[in-house]
Amino acid sequence: MDLMALPKAELHVHLEGTLEPDMLLALAGKNQVRVPYANREEVLAAYRFGSLDAFLKLYYAGMAVLRTVEDFTTLTEAYFDKVAGQGVKHAELFFDPQAHQEKGLGFVQILEGIEEGCRRAKVRHGISSLLIPCILRHLDPEAALRLVDEMLPHKDRFVAVGLDSSEQGRPPSLFAKAFQRVRDAGLRTVAHAGEEGPPEYIRQAIDLLGVSRIDHGVRILEDSELTKRVARAEIPLTVCPVCNVRLGVFGSLERHNLPRLIEAGLAVTLHSDDPAYIQFYIGDNYVACAQRLGIQEGALRTIARRSFTASFLPEAERERLSDLVP
Ligand code: ADE
Ligand code: ZN
Repeated sequence: MDLMALPKAELHVHLEGTLEPDMLLALAGKNQVRVPYANREEVLAAYRFGSLDAFLKLYYAGMAVLRTVEDFTTLTEAYFDKVAGQGVKHAELFFDPQAHQEKGLGFVQILEGIEEGCRRAKVRHGISSLLIPCILRHLDPEAALRLVDEMLPHKDRFVAVGLDSSEQGRPPSLFAKAFQRVRDAGLRTVAHAGEEGPPEYIRQAIDLLGVSRIDHGVRILEDSELTKRVARAEIPLTVCPVCNVRLGVFGSLERHNLPRLIEAGLAVTLHSDDPAYIQFYIGDNYVACAQRLGIQEGALRTIARRSFTASFLPEAERERLSDLVP
């Protein structure tokens, strides 16, 4: 089976994490932003992360080159051009509005830039997309409330709100009030939990933030009761195996716990997270899981179908797309 061509949905990708070294350098030149790299090789050489926080430091520094509405369109368009060749039929894009605020870019400008890229992707490749702005959990809960209040007047233009950034010491409970406002407005919620943080954060994401999906969630197996509960409730876990390894969550792909997550009956899906920073897009993750983790074709088909059914598309569209998987 051609795992690259296998139809799939990308449900866990950070738009700023699709900023390829060449584009980072080009935008740095265009926007006159100083970056400590002279060429693509130097950028890639700097991308050695021992932890989530080590990654995030370079990640926030890199996205400083995004300065205009058009930059967001260029970034979005380039992402879709890339994954059109990896079987992606639908994508739900995370982005971090708060990370662009100090450059003077408001939420609506960012939204406009990304939406134009999404429209072009639909025309050029037939790929559909939905947007999920995320709250940065390293910032204080008051900042989260301010962002939510800025975003909600535009709630028809995104489908859910997420929670991302440094996990350790930043429990979901801190953001319960902000997420309550999001849900009261009729939107869905998702949260990164159990990537570096404990299973307790997964429990809080479900019980206090009301999430429809957990992003990562790989540490869930440390709590067997929670594992059973999440499996029974079929709450999807959007797992990003290669990114986990590159951020030091697992020592190697061969030691990733994906086979055990599947065995435990969890509703796992496979994704890329920050593909430009690890040079591994979603199709590359499917191939690596087959070749290096021994995940069987049948399981990968199930995962691909589930990526559509776990999406936030209307039901008829979820069904239509999942039926594309052979
Ligand atoms: N933002 C971008 N990538 C992330 C990750 N892997 N975990 C948390 N926040 C992120
Ligand atoms: Zn992520």
